[in-house]
Amino acid sequence: MHLKRSDDHHHGPPIIPITFHLEDPEGLTGTTQKEWKVMGGEGESLLEVAIDNGINIEHACGGVCACSTCHVYVERGMDLVAEASEAEEDRVEEAPAIRRDSRLACQCEITAKDASRGGIVVRVPAWNRNAVKEIPH
Ligand code: FES
Repeated sequence: MHLKRSDDHHHGPPIIPITFHLEDPEGLTGTTQKEWKVMGGEGESLLEVAIDNGINIEHACGGVCACSTCHVYVERGMDLVAEASEAEEDRVEEAPAIRRDSRLACQCEITAKDASRGGIVVRVPAWNRNAVKEIPH
């Protein structure tokens, strides 16, 4: 599915540090590197930042909050991304193994304008890659 790209809309310079912890790095990147430190900009979603950096988080609906395959845990910096909408909250409940910090990566738009409040830490669960097949619709 084509992803709505950050080039399609305005976003800030990539100055917000984001750490991705990948439970299945091979499935998502084809490498064994579990920790990825990258940069994101205001207005970009965590999904866009991941994809732009070669971390292929599943996004079956193309990033329009119509599936739950981009489910991740925002372990730090929840206040640096947009609050979950009701639609997102409904969707995320369909994901397996939800936690209090569960979010849909495509809906987590970065709201921080600079890095003064620290960075964002995101964990991508191992089953992310297979979520489409595992979730009955
Ligand atoms: S990609 Fe479908 S909800 Fe995020």
